[in-house]
Amino acid sequence: MRPMQKTPQTSLLKWYARRGRHTLPWRNTRDPYRIYLSEIMLQQTQVATVLERFYFPFLEKFPTLLHVAQAPLDEVLKQWEGLGYYTRARNLHHTAQACKGQLPTTIEALIALKGIGRSTAHAIGAFAFGIAVPILDANVRRVLHRYFGIESRDEKGLWAAAYALLDTQHPYEYNQAMMDLGAMVCIKSTPKCDDCPLHEACIGKESNPLAYPAPKPKKSAPTHHLALLVYRHEGRLGLVQRTTRLLQGLWGFVQAPIDNAIEGVYLGRVSHQYSHFGIEGEVRLIDGWVEGLEWFEVEALETLALSTLDHKILACYLAQ
Ligand code: ADE
Repeated sequence: MRPMQKTPQTSLLKWYARRGRHTLPWRNTRDPYRIYLSEIMLQQTQVATVLERFYFPFLEKFPTLLHVAQAPLDEVLKQWEGLGYYTRARNLHHTAQACKGQLPTTIEALIALKGIGRSTAHAIGAFAFGIAVPILDANVRRVLHRYFGIESRDEKGLWAAAYALLDTQHPYEYNQAMMDLGAMVCIKSTPKCDDCPLHEACIGKESNPLAYPAPKPKKSAPTHHLALLVYRHEGRLGLVQRTTRLLQGLWGFVQAPIDNAIEGVYLGRVSHQYSHFGIEGEVRLIDGWVEGLEWFEVEALETLALSTLDHKILACYLAQ
């Protein structure tokens, strides 16, 4: 038998066979829904968090995409509670209904669905249907930037690089391997070049891996200072349903700008960091009925989807 030719792809796959995270549950299924769900959850959330707290409970509640389609949005949001970036849950619900619980099997049709961008469509295509297309998530981007010495973040150039390295014979293993390499070896600030199966031809390793991509000028995230108002009337609490893009559909306490005339009894401080800004708030209790709020018994709040910040406010109220 002729020995296998050594290429970046063969080195990568050999490394993946030995070092890859083969036990991840979405790598032990060909169910497109289970793969799709994992990709959506993993878009903005770490593997460990998804694995420990969200993936299995969601599947238990919604074992198929048809279950998602048939559930009210509120229930899907409730199950998503704590995972953040709730647009993902709304899009998942919308998509489940749009495709009647059955995901399409081509890249074009997958991309046409709400919440499925090109890389996610490629991930589902490669992992569920064996289609030979590359993925371009944050980890894979970093590997490609360094391997090819690409400074620019231009999308077109990166997709070209992604196709140039793709192992078209083994799209499943290749893509999973690239994700693992990015997550475990070609890591952001301290890449482990000596352990890397791609080190031989890697331009980053040759020069300075941290130079690719060219670092972005740092923007500091603003902090919003707010009054977080717990309205109470006859033992019930007054909440509003959020309409902002970030939290649309979730329930929460009234937020108001902090000013000198802030009302109510001070209960404490809470803070929460979102990706592009932070909130620092003073929780205040105000007894009295006001127009425009929905009123809930405290026990009933457990059945509502609340953001993490609103859970912190509730905890502050309950601790008084
Ligand atoms: N992040 C996105 N998709 C992933 C996958 N299939 N495995 C591990 N991390 C991921």
